[in-house]
Amino acid sequence: MCGIVGYVGHREVTDFLVEGLHRLEYRGYDSAGVAVMQPDGLIAVRKKAGRVEALAGALESQPAGGSVGIGHTRWATHGPANDINAHPHVGGQGEVVLVHNGVIENYSQLRAQLQGLGYVFKSATDTEVVAHLVAHHLEEQVKLGGTIDDNKTYLRAVEASLRKLKGTYGLAILFRERPDMIIAARNGSPLVVGVGDNEHYIASDPSPLVGYTDQVVFLADHEIAVLTADRLDLRHRDTGRLSPSVQTLNQVSTEIEKGDFEHYMLKEIFEQPQTIENAMRGRFDEDEATAKFGGLNLTPQQLRRIDRIVLTACGTSWHAALVGEYLIEEFARVPVEVEYASELRYRNPPLSDRTAVFAITQSGETADTLAAMRECKRKGLPSLAICNTVGSTIAREADGGVYLHAGPEIGVASTKAFTSQVTVLALLALYFGRMRHLSFQAGKRLIGHLKAMPEVVSRTLECHESVKEVAQRYHEATNFLYLGRLYNFPVALEGALKLKEISYIHAEGYPAAEMKHGPIALIDEHTPSVFVVPRSGVYDKVISNMEEIRARKGPIIAIACEEDDNVAALADHVITVPSVDDYLQPIVTSIPLQLLAYEIALLRGCNVDRPRNLAKSVTVE
Ligand code: AGP
Repeated sequence: MCGIVGYVGHREVTDFLVEGLHRLEYRGYDSAGVAVMQPDGLIAVRKKAGRVEALAGALESQPAGGSVGIGHTRWATHGPANDINAHPHVGGQGEVVLVHNGVIENYSQLRAQLQGLGYVFKSATDTEVVAHLVAHHLEEQVKLGGTIDDNKTYLRAVEASLRKLKGTYGLAILFRERPDMIIAARNGSPLVVGVGDNEHYIASDPSPLVGYTDQVVFLADHEIAVLTADRLDLRHRDTGRLSPSVQTLNQVSTEIEKGDFEHYMLKEIFEQPQTIENAMRGRFDEDEATAKFGGLNLTPQQLRRIDRIVLTACGTSWHAALVGEYLIEEFARVPVEVEYASELRYRNPPLSDRTAVFAITQSGETADTLAAMRECKRKGLPSLAICNTVGSTIAREADGGVYLHAGPEIGVASTKAFTSQVTVLALLALYFGRMRHLSFQAGKRLIGHLKAMPEVVSRTLECHESVKEVAQRYHEATNFLYLGRLYNFPVALEGALKLKEISYIHAEGYPAAEMKHGPIALIDEHTPSVFVVPRSGVYDKVISNMEEIRARKGPIIAIACEEDDNVAALADHVITVPSVDDYLQPIVTSIPLQLLAYEIALLRGCNVDRPRNLAKSVTVE
């Protein structure tokens, strides 16, 4: 939910921090700040409400040069988005300065205790509580004989503080008396250490490290790292010193640049022919007319024993899960439950040991999805992940899984991840189907259809110009209905979410038939209905629903196949897409809806890549 970055070494730290915060801004952008060790022994703190640009401006007028520092870009959890609540936060009389990602659930009682000890609070944040708590325990350590030139004194102060915290944290901490050190700690919010040549980095995810180092150490929960230019000491709260397991990042910096596109979201929409191909690469077993995966980590016998599948996710990933339910039940005849992760983690449904759970997540850091998967693992269920972010918490904690290989998705509105998730779910449906009832011929047919999808999606993207015309006509509407049936019902939900989250227009997705049971009351000439109505087994039913809307003078936008005269006679605007079999339509019909949301948001002057109130990775509950 927030982005953390830090550096200790020989470089000019402020440039690295600001660039790193730009790369992390998709995680939150209510405010941003840095703290930099100054040659005079003080820590300079610069922080501003608003985006990283505002902080960069503040640094121009008030520079803070140095080679050790930390930075933060915030998605507000406690306290409004203003300068005072921006991170970094100062503990004691300035001897501790830190940044935090997460939520401290017992912050109010800790705040009262610290106020009782004379600590004065300036902000409304839970983070400032941590800063004063560390300052307090540092004072205690010195009283117990700890010396201020010994890193252990600071480590013990941090460990004592963390034991008092309930909740989640990713922390990067500076100490005025130790100008060459950063202490980082993780519990529930991701942190990765970058290992350089006589320099070390810390960040919420690897993107700020790209172009600086490809040697990384992912921190696990309850691990603490002490970073200096030439040393990385790692400890676990319970087991003590650890030897860091250094991995090599395979991410190239070009993947996190916009290239010729105005926004990351548009770039990622147009990457989809390639990302869908990436999702399938190496995963067809043509001889057996099935799919193959390298990381499920379940034997065929274990997979055959599965008699129920739970797909759990949030947001767009939950919409992909709905498509997955239809795919797996159609091709593998295995019952599938789709669960909101935030519900699954608490509602304790009856799950047998023959139930397999798949957590579907782009970021691999969504707190609710992580918690739901942990709950299922606790019950001994095979818990797998369909994830886009290599090395993310969910990917690492799952028993196995399938990576999307879609590359970093920077735009807050998920696009390429959705179509890649659906592609992977289609491969899983094929895989489970072919180990049960699906025939060789049916498997070959599905493989043929999947292989054609990158080219089909390239053709689908040609609808962009007609989408712009529709956006021009309806960008001032205040309510939209999105309607589809069967495989296009999740697409209706996804189209509505895309519009909501980047244009701030209210939109609702429904199964098309449901519109008669209430939502049709919303229809008037100012409320457009978007019908997802490619030729399918339920095409005639959707045509009837369109007639019901038309009879009430509701404007109709249709996503339909080329040369469909029936739709053309009923709809005010038709956006055409290539015709594909029902079960692959979500990959095609979702694309014009991604573009429609994008173009409408642009016309409304919204920040497409950084929509208000949102963040790319929701790492708080
Ligand atoms: C989708 O456009 C949103 N950004 C949001 O709903 C997102 O899909 C959701 O937060 C889940 O994220 P995840 O896939 O990274 O777990």
